[in-house]
Amino acid sequence: MSGPVLLLGANGQLGRTWRLQADLDELVCASRDGRLDDGSAAEIADLTLPESLPSLLDRIRPALIINAAAYTAVDQAEREEALAMAVNARAVGALGQWAATNHARIIHYSTDYVFDGQASRPYRETDATGPLGVYGRSKLAGEQALTASGADHLIFRTAWVYAPWGRNFLNTMLRLAAERDELKVVADQIGSPTSTWRIVDASLQALRHWPNALSLQDRILHLTASGQTSWHGFAQALIEQAHRQGRLSRLPRIEAITTEQFPTPARRPAWSVLDNTALQQRFRYNIDDWRHDLDQVMASIPSSS
Ligand SMILES: NC(=O)c1ccc[n+]([C@@H]2O[C@H](COP(=O)([O-])OP(=O)(O)OC[C@H]3O[C@@H](n4cnc5c(N)ncnc54)[C@H](OP(=O)(O)O)[C@@H]3O)[C@@H](O)[C@H]2O)c1
Repeated sequence: MSGPVLLLGANGQLGRTWRLQADLDELVCASRDGRLDDGSAAEIADLTLPESLPSLLDRIRPALIINAAAYTAVDQAEREEALAMAVNARAVGALGQWAATNHARIIHYSTDYVFDGQASRPYRETDATGPLGVYGRSKLAGEQALTASGADHLIFRTAWVYAPWGRNFLNTMLRLAAERDELKVVADQIGSPTSTWRIVDASLQALRHWPNALSLQDRILHLTASGQTSWHGFAQALIEQAHRQGRLSRLPRIEAITTEQFPTPARRPAWSVLDNTALQQRFRYNIDDWRHDLDQVMASIPSSS
């Protein structure tokens, strides 16, 4: 592949990781307002305006589009369906149409929330979808729009994403653990905490081994850490690790609660474990247990944060 790489959503958890981790020639970053978190300038790509994207793409002429942008406010989406659909579905369709016409590749990310969470074994790519809320429906519509575009694409469904930066469960728990003696964390939702480092590393391996002649169905792959836990188990592991590292002077009590005890506007799947075997086999890429990647991320956070 030669030509510019356009990274959309360059300030998000995943977008920032792409910028730091991937040594890509001709990387062009885009954000909603044309600024990066370090204050430097970027291209403007506002996905609430899908019709604005072709002129940007015509100017940059990317050989690869990495779409790390998304409307990710799961609860707020219940009140902002049109906005979520524009960003997560219509804009993705517009990217796909441009890529199909101009022979560009696309890497796009989707979510465990396309499933209803009623399974009792890890979800495979071929399992029936059934989103429980607006966010999941909008992401599923994005998958469908990209598939229908005919672009040369890969869609990675990931879950429970965290990074050393950004708004995520890890950073929220570290903050609360420093402030409180007791935390209450949901223990009846099961998933695989997945670091953005893992997502970018696996995506780069896919780029190196970009498959020819894939069936449409094979273009969706599950990309999560291996193993599984609950939010409570994740909280316990990261807080204990922070304590061992001397980041927390004392361990708060972490009480396990049920989803019912922590009501949210959007329903969440109780079972979010995705089977990542297909990706590991296709790209000859080993994915470690979530605890391994958590150790790596925790070690990378400066102790002052
Ligand atoms: N976070 C998770 O737990 C999780 C789980 C499963 C799947 N995923 C998927 O993984 C991918 C990466 O998520 P993430 O965790 O990195 O999300 P994130 O940290 O919320 O970042 C999303 C980025 O998208 C940008 N964005 C939102 N609306 C936009 C718009 N209208 N125009 C342009 N940019 C816009 C945001 O810009 P601003 O910085 O300006 O707001 C932000 O930089 C997404 O596809 C997401 O659906 C995430």
